[in-house]
Amino acid sequence: MAQPDLYPVPPEWAARAKVDAASYAQLHGRSLADPGSFWLEQARRLDWVKRPEIAGDWSFDEKDFHIQWFADGKLNAAANCIDRHLKERSDAVAIIWEPDEPGEEARSFTYRELHAEVCRFANVLKALGVAKGDRVTIYLPMIPEAAFAVLACARIGAIHSVVFGGFSPEALAGRIEDCDSKLVITADEGRRGGKRIALKANVDEAAARAPSLETVLVVRATGGEVTMSEGRDIWFDAVAQGVAADCPAEPMGAEDPLFILYTSGSTGKPKGVLHTTGGYLLWAAMTHDLAFDYVQGDVFWCAADIGWVTGHSYILYGPLANGATTLMYEGLPNWPDASRIWQIVDKHKVHTLFTAPTALRALMKDGDGPVRATDRSSLKLLGTVGEPINPEAWRWYHGVVGEGLCPIIDTWWQTETGGAMIAPLPGATDLKPGSATKPMPGVDPQIVDAEGQVLSGAAEGNLVIARSWPGQMRTVWGDHDRFFQTYFTTYPGKYFTGDGARRDGDGDYWITGRVDDVINVSGHRMGTAEVESALVAHPKVAEAAVVGMPHDVKGQGIYAYVTLNAGEEGGEALRDELRQWVRKEIGPIATPDALQFAPGLPKTRSGKIMRRILRKIAEGDVGSLGDTSTLAEPAVVGDLVANRVA
Ligand code: WTA
Repeated sequence: MAQPDLYPVPPEWAARAKVDAASYAQLHGRSLADPGSFWLEQARRLDWVKRPEIAGDWSFDEKDFHIQWFADGKLNAAANCIDRHLKERSDAVAIIWEPDEPGEEARSFTYRELHAEVCRFANVLKALGVAKGDRVTIYLPMIPEAAFAVLACARIGAIHSVVFGGFSPEALAGRIEDCDSKLVITADEGRRGGKRIALKANVDEAAARAPSLETVLVVRATGGEVTMSEGRDIWFDAVAQGVAADCPAEPMGAEDPLFILYTSGSTGKPKGVLHTTGGYLLWAAMTHDLAFDYVQGDVFWCAADIGWVTGHSYILYGPLANGATTLMYEGLPNWPDASRIWQIVDKHKVHTLFTAPTALRALMKDGDGPVRATDRSSLKLLGTVGEPINPEAWRWYHGVVGEGLCPIIDTWWQTETGGAMIAPLPGATDLKPGSATKPMPGVDPQIVDAEGQVLSGAAEGNLVIARSWPGQMRTVWGDHDRFFQTYFTTYPGKYFTGDGARRDGDGDYWITGRVDDVINVSGHRMGTAEVESALVAHPKVAEAAVVGMPHDVKGQGIYAYVTLNAGEEGGEALRDELRQWVRKEIGPIATPDALQFAPGLPKTRSGKIMRRILRKIAEGDVGSLGDTSTLAEPAVVGDLVANRVA
C-alpha cells in the first residue's frame, strides 16, 4: 500500500496541545507584526531579577551592525533552571541519569538535590578563583557532573565552553587557547558502549599545547588510573569536602555571555559561537515548550551529548527552565544491543524522545525485532534534529517506533540559532516525512536565489532569516568581524544559514542540506577545511581536498583526495596511517571514510580547486562532470575517475 505523504494532526494531540493550528497562525503572525509586545510577553516565561522593558534592538546592516535582546533585563540562567522551581516543585525529578552499563543503577536528582549539587560545584569553582566573565572549559563524559558543572558556571556568571569528549587533545587545546580559558573540568575517564575514554590523559596532552591553562579539576567517574600533576591538577572530591551547599546566583545582564560553543564552518578553524543569557534561555525554553508541547511530569529524553548545542538546549537549559524531568544517558543507543534505546524508554517511561536521523538509520539496519521486543507505550512524541531525515527513516520512526501514534517533530536549527527555528508543533502542524514544516514564532525565513532575489510561493534556493530572534548567536568569540563576514555579507541585511531549502505550495520548508563547504557527518558538522589542514600537516602530504559523499547511515561521509609529496608512494598502509592521523588530530568523527591518492587535483587556471568535480566523483556521478575544459590540466579528471575509491 502506498504510504501517505501527509500525516494530519492526530485528534488527541489537537485536543491536548497548548497550541492548535489557529493559535499557531495567530502566534506567528503577531510575532512578526508586533515583535516588541510579543517578545516582552514571551519574556514572562523566565524569572527576571529585573524585568526587561525593551525587546529586540538589532540591525544586520554593516554600518550599524548590532544584536541585542532584553538588554535592560537582569536574570540568572541557573536560577531559572533550578531555584524558581523550588517553591512548588522541589521534590519533582529534574534529572534522571542512565548509566552506560545496563546492569548499573540509574540515578535521579530532584530540583532540591540539583540545587545543592550545583551550588557545591559553584562554590568549588569560586574557591579556585573563577569569577564572572571567566571562561571555563568543560571536557566531561555524560555524567551528572557535566550538568552540575554547566549550571555552576551559569550560576556564578562564568562562561562555559563545553568540548565534546570525542575530540582529540589537539582539538581540545585549540579550544582552550582560543577563549583563553584557565580552568578545565574533566574526569578520570569516560565510558561509552563499554569502552573507556582517557579524558584526563587527553587533557594532559592538550595542556602541553595550551599555555593559558592553569588548573585541571578532575571528577572521579570510573576510578581509572590517572597521573595528577602537582600544582595544576585537583580532584573535585577533595576540594568539594565541606563546601557549602548554597551559593547565591549572580544577577547577569541579559546580554552577558552565557556560553561559547565551538562549531565548524566552511573556512579556517572552528568558531567560538557565543550565546548570551536572556535571549538564549528564552529561546531554549520557548521552543522546548512549543515544539514538544511539554507538560510538567512528562519524561523528556534528548539523546544528544552535552558537547553539542542540542545537548545544551534540550538536555539542560530548555527542559530545566520549564521545570521538566530531563533524561541524560551516558552511553550509545545500540549498546549492548539494538534494543537498549527502547529499553531505556520503557524503564524510565519516556514521553518524548528526541534523537538524530543517523541513530535511526543505524537502528533500522537491525530490523524491527529489537524495537517490537519492547513496550514503548509511554512514548507520545518523537523528535529529530541535526540533518535532513530521509522519508524512509521518518516512516520507520513513525510506524515502527511510534506505532503510528506519535507525531514526528523534525526540528531544523543550528548551533548559531540557539534552538529550533523551523519545526512542526504537535497540535498544530500536519506532518510530511522529510519536511521541517513551519517557522517558530519570531522566525522569518526566506528563500533567495544566488543573486539574493527573494523567491515567493513554492521555490527552491538558499535559506536566510530576514530578522533577528532572541536565540541568535551574538558574535564569534574574539572575532566580531568574522561573525559579520560569515553570516551577513552573502545576502546583505540577512542572516545566511549556509543551508539550501525548498518551500512547497503549503508553505512547508524542506531543508536540502549545506550549500557551503561544511559536511554533516552523523549529524555532526565538519568543515572540509579542517580535515584538509589536518591532512596536509602530515609530513608526506603535499595537498588535500575533502568533500562529502552519500553514506547510508551517517547521511554524509568524508571523502578525501590526497596528493603526496614527490617520491612518496600511496598504498593501503599509508591510507590507514592518514586516516588514523586525522582521527588523532581532530577526533574519530573526522576520520575520512574514503581516501584516494591523487597525483593531481582539478584546478582552474587561477589555481582554485574545482570542488564540484570532486563532489561528483565522490558521489559516483561520473557521467555528468560538466565542463572540464577550463581546468589547468583537464587530464587529471580521467585519473581521478579511474582511481575512485568505492
Ligand atoms: C543541519 C544542530 C535538515 C543543517 C542543531 C544545519 C538539519 C546544521 C536539521 C547545523 C534538520 C540541523 N533538517 N538539516 N532538521 N537540523 N540540520 O550546528 O545543515 O550542529 O545547518 O546544529 O545541521 O548543525 P549544528
